[in-house]
Amino acid sequence: MADTAAQTEGGAGQNRPQDLHYCEGLARLRLGGGFFRPQSRPSRDLGVLLARCRPQPLEVLDLMAGCGIRGLRYGLEAGASAVWLNDADGDRLPLMQANLAPLADAGCAVRTTALTAQKLLAECLLQERRFGVVDLDAFGCPTPLVAAALEALQFGGVLYLASTDGRSPTGHDRAAALRSLGAAARAHPASWELALRLQIGVVARAAWALGRGVRPLFSFSEGRTFRVALELQRRADPQQERLLGLLAHCHGCGEQFSQGLWKLRQWPACGCGAQAPPLAISGPLWLGPLQHAPTLEAMAERAAAAPPGAVAPASLRLLRRLLADPGLPERCWPMAELGRRLGGGPPATEALLAALRAEGFTALRSGVMDGQFRCNAPWSRVLELAAALNR
Ligand SMILES: C[S@@+](CC[C@H](N)C(=O)[O-])C[C@H]1O[C@@H](n2cnc3c(N)ncnc32)[C@H](O)[C@@H]1O
Ligand SMILES: [Zn+2]
Repeated sequence: MADTAAQTEGGAGQNRPQDLHYCEGLARLRLGGGFFRPQSRPSRDLGVLLARCRPQPLEVLDLMAGCGIRGLRYGLEAGASAVWLNDADGDRLPLMQANLAPLADAGCAVRTTALTAQKLLAECLLQERRFGVVDLDAFGCPTPLVAAALEALQFGGVLYLASTDGRSPTGHDRAAALRSLGAAARAHPASWELALRLQIGVVARAAWALGRGVRPLFSFSEGRTFRVALELQRRADPQQERLLGLLAHCHGCGEQFSQGLWKLRQWPACGCGAQAPPLAISGPLWLGPLQHAPTLEAMAERAAAAPPGAVAPASLRLLRRLLADPGLPERCWPMAELGRRLGGGPPATEALLAALRAEGFTALRSGVMDGQFRCNAPWSRVLELAAALNR
């Protein structure tokens, strides 16, 4: 079986990119001339592994299907009994339908449509159609579709959501963040994580408004697309709403604080003393875990049992990274920032984490951003321990 690969077929004159066969997992298909990113393979591999762990029979709705690769893989590799693939661009339909032909032999029922996701979800609501997985691989910010996508889920179903809007949630467009996320987003050293927490906050509020709850199963980004998979709970876990809160960062000394909205208080003093600049406060956002270890463990088991090449090495690395970091505590710093503030570069990450743990703090490498660590120690203590390690 081929890993990510494109092969020419059909001899002379047929080697334009859209004529190539592309192989990924068990899927072999044509990409056509529309949007497709081979680099997004880890997101597709993780989606397939997650779907494989969901209760069967499994029906999947792929709202923005492009060439149809996700639906094809959900049918071939995740054992989905039915897939509904949709893309608003009607020109994609013939290619998508041709690509899905192998699903007939796999016993997977296929439906294809060329509707806007908004219309399709309205139809699902009217017909009370619900799915085990709804994949929403959106261009831009998916907020306008979130509530309707949740309505299209069975209890215990999964919303697999992507956003390519990196500017609003990372503090680069504060007005847009207020409009699209209903939240303040300020420049923060762990900007990708901030974006994921803001995104989960949007989904959690939509689920609560419907009387439901959510459990994040995994969350990750490569800085361009922000992806979260969340399980819809029939009822929210007790006190789940206390996980909605604010994250504050002092650009002066580097300290960070968080607090839940349910019991807002004054912010503690940071290390800047009387000279303290105003804190840069982001939120409301999700302060809870970003990853659900039992789900990731089940996915890793499926990956280990998959045929060679079905899961890309980069996807396996991502899975391992996410498994090693639940996403708590929520305060995260780049090692490089520590080095900058100390003057002489950062200490070895493992040594710093060990020193923090020896004092009873929780400290670990971030699974979301390379070169970052998270901990619940006061920033002043982190700096002292790091300086001592550098001596
Ligand atoms: C990010 S691409 C999908 C890529 C695909 N999921 C993959 O893994 O290769 C987004 C797709 O959404 C379609 N699209 C954009 N807005 C839409 C809407 N409102 N409703 C449905 N499809 C839409 C575009 O035509 C495009 O093909
Ligand atoms: Zn400060």
